[in-house]
Amino acid sequence: MIFWRVKSLDAILATAEKKSLHRSLGVWQLTLLGVGAIIGTGIFVLTAEAAQKAGPGMMISFVIAGFVCAVAALCYSELSSMVPVSGSAYTYSYAVLGELIAWMVGWALILEYSVAASAVAVGWSGYFTGLLNNSSLGLEIPYALANGPFAGGIINLPAVVICLLVIGLLIIGTRESATVNAILVAVKIVALTVFIALVLPVADMSHFDPFLPLGTSGVVAAAASIFFAYVGFDAVSTAAEETKNPQHSVPIALISALLICTVFYLLISAGVIGAMGAQPLIDKAGEGFMPGSVEMAAQCKQLAAAGQQPVVCSHEALAHVLREIGWEKIGNLIGLAAFLALPSVILIMLYGQTRIFFVMSRDGLLPEILSRIHPRFKTPHIVTLITGVVVTLAAAFLPVGKLANISNSGTLFAFLVVALSVMMLRIRDKNRIRPFKTPAIWLVGPLAIIGCLILFLFLPIDAKLVFPVWTGIGLVFYFLYGYRKSHVVLGIDTPSGGENLIEPIHSLVDCDEENGEEGK
Ligand code: ALA
Repeated sequence: MIFWRVKSLDAILATAEKKSLHRSLGVWQLTLLGVGAIIGTGIFVLTAEAAQKAGPGMMISFVIAGFVCAVAALCYSELSSMVPVSGSAYTYSYAVLGELIAWMVGWALILEYSVAASAVAVGWSGYFTGLLNNSSLGLEIPYALANGPFAGGIINLPAVVICLLVIGLLIIGTRESATVNAILVAVKIVALTVFIALVLPVADMSHFDPFLPLGTSGVVAAAASIFFAYVGFDAVSTAAEETKNPQHSVPIALISALLICTVFYLLISAGVIGAMGAQPLIDKAGEGFMPGSVEMAAQCKQLAAAGQQPVVCSHEALAHVLREIGWEKIGNLIGLAAFLALPSVILIMLYGQTRIFFVMSRDGLLPEILSRIHPRFKTPHIVTLITGVVVTLAAAFLPVGKLANISNSGTLFAFLVVALSVMMLRIRDKNRIRPFKTPAIWLVGPLAIIGCLILFLFLPIDAKLVFPVWTGIGLVFYFLYGYRKSHVVLGIDTPSGGENLIEPIHSLVDCDEENGEEGK
């Protein structure tokens, strides 16, 4: 019975001990890692889509999405303090809910990470194009070549180029060093702080009225999409193996990173609304246009022709707001900050994706050819290339909002399983030492599950459909391959190679410190 194919927690911990990565990260670095992975396209770009769905009520959407992430993070914290190994939700569920559910979680995480990488690439493209158009270089990328078919274009070439660049870097073995991460986090924080400082003082309270132009369902729908802005905090728990005192540091860092980002997001959305207004575009039937749809793009084009550029139409919301209120140069600098910082989010996502592939293939659930290592670069070039092709194609043709929603569907499933695992483990393995105990687990756990379910239900129909189809494909794979080759069944309990490549992305902290190098 596959549900009972469980990896024992002790076996997982023993494997982790054998690998014994150098433990060098403290609370501060972990929090930075979290903030670095969290802040990206969500706030820089999707704020416009949240406004289109909820109007000024998007502020509540940020709180709802942040709340669901916080309760999920508390559950993550308990598991990651008990099982401080890489593999994240996949590893946890293998230990608690068995192989089949673990497979489904790993498969969902692949969706989360790879589609999120595409979404961030499309977000980056919006800022890159805006930056070029507003620069004094006189360069302009034709609309049709900077937008996919849903936005009335042909292909999003800048997104293709950035995907190919990041994939190339991953293949030759580049990983982000802690120093680079710290610099890019600083760039993002400074950019967002400058934005807040410039827009809040000019806020016009009348822009907050009507506060809920599309009702409460619009607010929850925006929360389901803007959830993307918080995705990435699980990077903290996956770095637990490299943390000095994971029991203490991981939960504090997770919650701190989420809190910092929530405060920023609230101030930024208030600033966007106050400075420019954030009312949605409404169709003849009185409904809001669907962000990312052909109809919405047509409406925005029409308004642009009439000289109007509402924030809901912008692909570079924050830079656009600043330019509109007269801070043209600073707007361009915000664009530059996004241009510099977003590629690192793509790198983190793609790296996370290949790592999940690795852990799954180490457990025998995926063919070993996928984890074949390049003889010179010592990287999993095959899996990176396959992933790269898919991620690039998605970024070339799909709009950012659609991609973010698809990614959210996978993430919500993974979070839900983590919450379930914590509660099951409380019953099944009562006496195990829990260095961090989720407070009020019988409230927090169900809240996390209900929150994830509600957000999933409020995703657009296409995102909701992609998830079951993706899971179905995964299950076919599992029964054709992993079911028979699983190392748990074959009694193989040591990793079959490549384990040095599944280090968390920030393991280069060690290289920085020990070799004085930054990446390879
Ligand atoms: N939270 C990350 C972003 O917003 C994925 O780009």
